[in-house]
Amino acid sequence: MVAYMDASGSSEANKQYYDAFSADYERERGQNDPGGYHELLDELEAGYVRRFAEGRDVLEVGCGTGLVMVRLREFARTLRGVDLSPGMLEKAKHRGLDVTLGSATELPFESSSFDVTCSFKVLAHVPEIEKALAEMARVTRPGGMVLAEFYNPFSVRGLLKRVGPAGKIAQSANEHDVYTRFDSPARARELTPSGCVFAGARGVRITIPSARFMKNPLGRRVFRAAEHALCDTPLKNLAGFYVAAYEKRHAA
Ligand SMILES: C[S@@+](CC[C@H](N)C(=O)[O-])C[C@H]1O[C@@H](n2cnc3c(N)ncnc32)[C@H](O)[C@@H]1O
Repeated sequence: MVAYMDASGSSEANKQYYDAFSADYERERGQNDPGGYHELLDELEAGYVRRFAEGRDVLEVGCGTGLVMVRLREFARTLRGVDLSPGMLEKAKHRGLDVTLGSATELPFESSSFDVTCSFKVLAHVPEIEKALAEMARVTRPGGMVLAEFYNPFSVRGLLKRVGPAGKIAQSANEHDVYTRFDSPARARELTPSGCVFAGARGVRITIPSARFMKNPLGRRVFRAAEHALCDTPLKNLAGFYVAAYEKRHAA
């Protein structure tokens, strides 16, 4: 395992961390584990974006290798991605996706460029989360949506991540090598960016105790059905991943 000296969450630290294991990132994701745990997360996240983004201009912040973007391009009118890791972006480019190098805290786009700006599994690794959310709101048009995913401390996943051993992200890295923050659903409301109103949320990973339970066909069937059935119920407040939807009303 690579020992990372800097898990500060600064742009440079995150870039180094994700560059280091970009080659290995999809070892258990995407086509390497069809129907598996990570695919289910991506499916539920992209499904929530679809509700607001059919035929509209969409940006994914922290798009990585493009696993969520390939789902978004099925329904977006235009689709762009931004990420600070050249290693991760290389794979997204191979997928034919329109991606740009840049940081969530300083988005390289004009104000009011997109109808929907979304981010998954990224903001929990950004210490300056308020700045990133303000940037997402800035590049979103009035009447559009900002969809932001938080890691929920009040969930089975949140509990296990904080007291259990670090999960493996790739061959050469584990979760303790990167800055990670947990923000509750109540905190997600408090973090509503200026000029926006909290408009709802979806919960992802409400029932799955551990990704291991999604290794066999029965587990896949049961948990997939359960997650789809519960993601928009009040149990979303106990989900490991909490996707908040903020509607942009006017410029901050
Ligand atoms: C766990 S991956 C998620 C990728 C993608 N959203 C997905 O769901 O497949 C996290 C991504 O966030 C990117 N990232 C981390 N901090 C960032 C920042 N401050 N600005 C932009 N991207 C960032 C990383 O480079 C990495 O590609």
